[in-house]
Amino acid sequence: MRIDVVSIFPEYLAPLELSLIGKARQDGLLDLQVHDLRAFTTDRHRTVDDTPYGGGAGMVMKPEPWAQALTAVAAARPVGAAVPGSAGKPVLIVPSPAGERFTQAIAHELAEEDHLVFACGRYEGIDERVLEWAADHFTVRPMSLGDYVLNGGEVAVLAMVEAVGRLLPGVVGNPESLVEESHSDGLLEYPVYTKPSSWRDRDVPAVLLSGNHGKIAQWRRHEQYRRTAERRPDLLDEFDAGALPRADRTAFADLGYDVVDGHLLRRPDA
Ligand SMILES: C[S@@+](CC[C@H](N)C(=O)[O-])C[C@H]1O[C@@H](n2cnc3c(N)ncnc32)[C@H](O)[C@@H]1O
Repeated sequence: MRIDVVSIFPEYLAPLELSLIGKARQDGLLDLQVHDLRAFTTDRHRTVDDTPYGGGAGMVMKPEPWAQALTAVAAARPVGAAVPGSAGKPVLIVPSPAGERFTQAIAHELAEEDHLVFACGRYEGIDERVLEWAADHFTVRPMSLGDYVLNGGEVAVLAMVEAVGRLLPGVVGNPESLVEESHSDGLLEYPVYTKPSSWRDRDVPAVLLSGNHGKIAQWRRHEQYRRTAERRPDLLDEFDAGALPRADRTAFADLGYDVVDGHLLRRPDA
């Protein structure tokens, strides 16, 4: 996969040289290039922002440096790469608190692409016409990391590149570890423990020491249900409970949920 990141703070992306993503780059699994937006300006001051039409606080990123930068990176699309779902165009991800919420499902979608471009906004964001213009050359996806406001898109890009990059074949040593993670099946992951089995008067749950793989799997599943119900009950709205075995229905009943027409319904008295 090829990833291009355009930013006025290219140094901000230095962590992408570390750990598994850095190794994936070294191993040639990921071709990641970071570009300085100011390199695409033409004035002496390398200006990338200007005052907003209509007034108001803050500055807005000028369109022309973005058009120049995005034209240059679009040309870097891998030659002969498989045409992905996005109509053969590279995907332009524009981090924005006003974007679609980035999720694990979207990370999986993006991991299927051959060329991702990230446009890091700063100030009050990028002139809206850039996104309209870019739609001729890219599949444009404004993407939010969550319902809060960051100073710039770089932190969001670090998170998204890591989430997507670790799904690429060969990046995570043991692909099994991707299967049971939080959000992989619409639930949060179960709690995990390591040695020693007793630490500061706290014991690892006995079932994990039992060697009974069936019981361990069931315990972990039920812990997923418990944790998700406690911390992210919203995720259970989408959970397909139609095929749950009886023991799992009982686990949900203990948490205050009934299975009705394949969906989990929280009992009003629970
Ligand atoms: C100060 S913010 C601009 C916020 C913008 N005025 C608004 O209210 O939608 C500057 C830049 O930070 C990035 N950013 C801020 N919050 C973000 C979030 N939750 N997810 C992704 N990017 C974010 C975007 O690139 C944005 O252009």
